[in-house]
Amino acid sequence: NNANNNCCCLCNVRKTHVSSLFCLSGYLGVFAVVLKTNDESPRTDEFDKVELSCLIESISTTNPRIEWKKITRDGPSYVYFDKKISGDLEDRAVIREPASLLITNATRSDTAKYRCEVTAAEDQKSFDEIVIDLVVRVKPVVPKCRVPKSVPFGKSAELSCMEEEGFPKSQYQWFKNKEEIPDDPKTSLKFFNSSYTLNADTGTLKFIAVRKEDAGEYFCRAKNDAGHAECAAQKMEVYDIDVVGIILGVLVVVIVLLCITVGICCAYKQGYFSTQKQTGNNYKVPAKGDGVDYVRTEDEGDFRHKSSFVI
Ligand SMILES: *[C@@H]1O[C@H](CO)[C@@H](O)[C@H](O)[C@H]1NC(C)=O
Ligand SMILES: *[C@@H]1O[C@H](CO)[C@@H](O)[C@H](O)[C@H]1NC(C)=O
Repeated sequence: NNANNNCCCLCNVRKTHVSSLFCLSGYLGVFAVVLKTNDESPRTDEFDKVELSCLIESISTTNPRIEWKKITRDGPSYVYFDKKISGDLEDRAVIREPASLLITNATRSDTAKYRCEVTAAEDQKSFDEIVIDLVVRVKPVVPKCRVPKSVPFGKSAELSCMEEEGFPKSQYQWFKNKEEIPDDPKTSLKFFNSSYTLNADTGTLKFIAVRKEDAGEYFCRAKNDAGHAECAAQKMEVYDIDVVGIILGVLVVVIVLLCITVGICCAYKQGYFSTQKQTGNNYKVPAKGDGVDYVRTEDEGDFRHKSSFVI
């Protein structure tokens, strides 16, 4: 037995107290299954392959039972059982001798803890398990960016950037005219007087009071360990609120309104509206009366028609 031979070498060298004790128990026939791994927390990108390493360090049983379980919030489920890959990984994973699990095309839903369990019936200590924590990284997608088109000088402004596919969660960077905006404006000569705060976790770039110099083309980049993605640049303009202009404008409107009001009042006082009503009545009275009045206003055909109707 290979494992035993290795063990005896260790015993002879007497490297550590623990290993000699372990070998001693081996000599006495107290055999144990012991697992180890090359990587307890493997990381891979989506659609790549990854190995969940489960190595058997010591065993005496010739045909141990090997099982893999995936542990999620809903509890454990079988991945490898009865020498078959099952469930979601069925066509995407193989066992690599002796007990490692090789996922050939990882997907984001594979992110979970996996437990390798080996049962060795002929060993004294007949069971061992090892837990592997797998993370499948997902590239960010193009983030949704909101940049206000134009902002009045001195007012606040908020630029937002968001993407929800990336795993681990994306961090955000903002660029102005293709140049990265530093986290703290005070660290850069160019942005020194700008009033912004930048939150790399939420993707928000907030100006407390925009300056003329803050106008420009902005875009945002979402990035994580798997990659990055950017939104298209959008222009933000800063315009002056012309206080004098606004006051003048308001004055003009008030004056125009005043003129109209005065005009209407004068028209009332001079009886413009009441004469109009009287003339209206003058026309109505003959319309309801007999046809004789029509002689003067209507042409002959109409008159005849009307009078015949009256008759
Ligand atoms: C991995 O899976 C994805 C989606 O299921 C598929 O589009 C892709 O072609 C696969 N890649 C390989 C190498 O099989
Ligand atoms: C920042 O503002 C100060 C005072 O208003 C000015 O002297 C300085 O030149 C400005 N710096 C930049 C980089 O615009």
